[in-house]
Amino acid sequence: MDCDVLIIGAGAAGLFCAGSARATGARVVVIDHAARPGEKIRISGGGRCNFTNLATARERFISENPRFCASALAGYRPQDFVALVDQAGIDWHEKTLGQLFCDGKATQITDMLIRRMNGAELWLDTTLERLEAQGSGFTALTSRGVVTAGRVVVACGAKSIPKMGATGLAYDLARQFGLRIVETRPGLVPLTFAEQELALTKPLAGVSVEAEIRHAKTAFRDALLFTHRGLSGPAVLQISSYWQPGQEITVDLAPDCDLAAVLRDRRGQGGRVAVATVLGTALPARLAEAIAAELGLGNARLADQNNATLDRIAARVHRWQIRPVGSEGYRTAEVTVGGVDTRDLDAKTMQARAVPGLYFIGECVDVTGWLGGHNFQWAWASAHAAGLSL
Ligand code: FDA
Repeated sequence: MDCDVLIIGAGAAGLFCAGSARATGARVVVIDHAARPGEKIRISGGGRCNFTNLATARERFISENPRFCASALAGYRPQDFVALVDQAGIDWHEKTLGQLFCDGKATQITDMLIRRMNGAELWLDTTLERLEAQGSGFTALTSRGVVTAGRVVVACGAKSIPKMGATGLAYDLARQFGLRIVETRPGLVPLTFAEQELALTKPLAGVSVEAEIRHAKTAFRDALLFTHRGLSGPAVLQISSYWQPGQEITVDLAPDCDLAAVLRDRRGQGGRVAVATVLGTALPARLAEAIAAELGLGNARLADQNNATLDRIAARVHRWQIRPVGSEGYRTAEVTVGGVDTRDLDAKTMQARAVPGLYFIGECVDVTGWLGGHNFQWAWASAHAAGLSL
């Protein structure tokens, strides 16, 4: 089989790129080892696909080279994808903070991308055995036979959720052709605790609180969820992409209130009110009781506490310092931080600088978005950048 463009991976980036390449009249073959295309699209956004974020900007991406993504993001904006979604008659809504979701099923997005492929061949259940540069193009040995292609686009994602077909193939191909890899780690992933912290948090599993979580200079404010293994929820997932083993994070469990002032104020009003009861005005009751108990104030009255104790309570709530023991890993991570080193790619085309005709797009590249639709926007934008130059 001879084609102009071989795309490895029928996920968000690969499907989008196939449509863009077909628009130029190229003969396109997309291969994927999975039985269905776009499996991550299907499960994304709780089944409703948070397909873009109106506030996408390079500051919302993590990369060793933070400027790299700017060109592709400028060349294909969230509004461009919204126009496609509108054209396809897919209803959507803005949830919060620019996050756009389908009203109906996420698979509408995959169906739209497949229609847009407009005659590109899609070979599912197909594995890549070998890829070699040959003359001015490439020869791929696949489980369906040999494919020769003028250009190859590597769009086979990253390591997150191996159960859904994630593999390290993109990195293996990058290394094979001499590109560097920025060390990878799970991102947008729940954090886990050692036994000592679990003693406090395990009984709180299911409790959620609006919190501000800080790691070095980065902070996110959103929901935090206590789990049986540690912490989850959007604020925790966001900070997890910055956190690395051994590091500490600081949590403000009541960012809207000045707890020291509230405690002093209530103490000044006298009465027999318990510390936990007053804490419960700023925190969910179970969390308030757990913190009071942890500080040895389980049954204590507020009126009996001196200023130092009130400050200690406030510090525990506003500056809870924790050192997660780990994360839930690639098993549940929504993304992979790190990947193909952007120094070896052209920011305008996603082409490998030293290997003409070889492109890397989507999550396999060292560009990782925040939670909230930024990762799909990167998939569309990087695929578009490559598609224009194929
Ligand atoms: P993607 O993983 O989509 O596709 C890679 C393709 O390559 C897959 O089809 C895979 O089968 C194939 N492949 C892998 N190895 C192969 C091999 N060895 N041979 C052949 N084929 C191979 N983002 C967002 O913006 N909004 C959201 O709502 C969500 N929600 C979300 C939920 C969950 C549970 C997860 C895990 C992730 C998200 N994401 C998200 C992240 C988003 O899904 C992710 O960033 C994109 O799917 C990345 O697109 P890619 O095309 O690069 O990889």
